[in-house]
Amino acid sequence: MATPENKLAFDGGWGYAPAPESTDHIQVKKRYGLFINGEFVAPEKGSYFDTVNPATEEKLSRIADAGDADVDKAVAAAREAYRTTWGRMKPAERGKYIYRIARIIQERAREFSVIESLDGGKPIRESRDVDVPLAAAHFFYYAGWADKLQFAFPGRTAKPLGVAGQVIPWNFPLLMAAWKIAPALACGNTVVLKPAETTPLTALKLAEVCRDAGLPPGVVNIVTGAGATGAAIINHPGVDKVAFTGSTNVGRIIQKALAGTNKKYTLELGGKAANIVFADAAIDQAVEGIVNGIFFNQGHVCCAGSRLFVQESVADEVVSKLKDRMETLIVGDPLDKNTDIGAINSRMQLEKIESYLKIGKSEGGEMHQSACRVPKKGYWCRPTIFTGVSQSNRVVQEEIFGPVLAIQTFRRFDEAITKANNTPYGLSGGIWTDKGSKIFKMTQSVRAGVIWANTFNKFDPTSPFGGYKESGVGREGGLHGLDAYVKLGV
Ligand code: NAI
Ligand code: MG
Repeated sequence: MATPENKLAFDGGWGYAPAPESTDHIQVKKRYGLFINGEFVAPEKGSYFDTVNPATEEKLSRIADAGDADVDKAVAAAREAYRTTWGRMKPAERGKYIYRIARIIQERAREFSVIESLDGGKPIRESRDVDVPLAAAHFFYYAGWADKLQFAFPGRTAKPLGVAGQVIPWNFPLLMAAWKIAPALACGNTVVLKPAETTPLTALKLAEVCRDAGLPPGVVNIVTGAGATGAAIINHPGVDKVAFTGSTNVGRIIQKALAGTNKKYTLELGGKAANIVFADAAIDQAVEGIVNGIFFNQGHVCCAGSRLFVQESVADEVVSKLKDRMETLIVGDPLDKNTDIGAINSRMQLEKIESYLKIGKSEGGEMHQSACRVPKKGYWCRPTIFTGVSQSNRVVQEEIFGPVLAIQTFRRFDEAITKANNTPYGLSGGIWTDKGSKIFKMTQSVRAGVIWANTFNKFDPTSPFGGYKESGVGREGGLHGLDAYVKLGV
């Protein structure tokens, strides 16, 4: 078993040599304005905030803080573009623009990956292999639907809604922008999108891509700022459709604000997914899946497998193998191609995670962290597991959004289902077994939008994604994702 001592030996003798991705090919301006009506403009009030690199705490750029007047301008530009160009354009023509955006993202993939990792702290391996290719794939996928909506909704007519107001979080900055913008454009809507305040850079790069693709001015507007800017977009009377991804708390505020308006909305909120391992599972494969489920992207994943349920007869084996595997995970420089776990996105998020580590211990849980060293500067959290926890513990019930796994055991099939469903959330789940019958029973019994079987955290633009209960309203992705952006007639 890997101990702190032989971990050092591993590093010294057998560790990987540093393999940092270069940054000389990227361009980040010292300051960014708001992207409104096809150009970058200064915010009316002239205020800016910093975005930092969470791995070094160094400032990367100054970002415009949009006020109500700026949001007004962006919504007006989107309305005008909807009325005069985008809403009237032949669907096949719209498709061509969206294909062009997809291709430019692919051409600039390396730049996008590096900027994503710098601004948000995620390992370059993920931004390079997951975020950026999937973002391009979403644009490709929805470009294809632009002129085929009559097949998506047979016998009905699908009309655009108008202006979509979209607010996204910091865990998958470019990918969430793609999830929101691609279906909106394909259906003939125009967009005002706000990225998260800690990770605005790739959305601003995407604004450049829209401009380079020759997208008519005003079709996509990128407005930066914090919660107040988000609220201004969502509450703007000129917005016809709201799409939000973020915390359940803010989701609640938005849902209340939208009640009684005619705005259509989708909310993609938190999660506390159960990853369930049966004794008949391929254990080594399951351990990899557990690691991927909770440590992927520092656990900054709404569908993270943050609760593990292991059948009692294999619990010792699974936990012991998991601990061994945790010792081999490399925590550190997000730009190093060997890194498995990057930086926590912000100081605030790190403080939240650390407070949960204290809570977990004070509730009587047994905490185990890998022994790896972490850099002195920046925001870091070692991969962490809690054993000896019970259903009522806060680390079992609440979304932590960090690399922290709560482990419990079960004996019977029904017990696993009951425990898995004992949560206010219902976004995703995982099951590990060699019996197809168990998989089918599980997918019908666990109340979650996505259930992965013998794998975890797999995404594809063709599959719908979204939650039950407090995990949200509506679906994004796939054919279902079009529904949120059209009004259907006969
Ligand atoms: P948040 O929900 O405050 O932020 C998400 C986005 O909403 C950001 O763009 C933010 O500027 C915007 N926003 C904030 N207040 C708003 C308001 N009143 N109206 C409209 N937009 C508003 O999430 P935060 O504070 O960054 O993270 C807190 C916790 O939320 C995390 O620890 C995690 O548990 C959860 N979270 C869940 C996400 C998910 O994908 N389901 C993503 C991000 C956070
Ligand atoms: Mg940042």
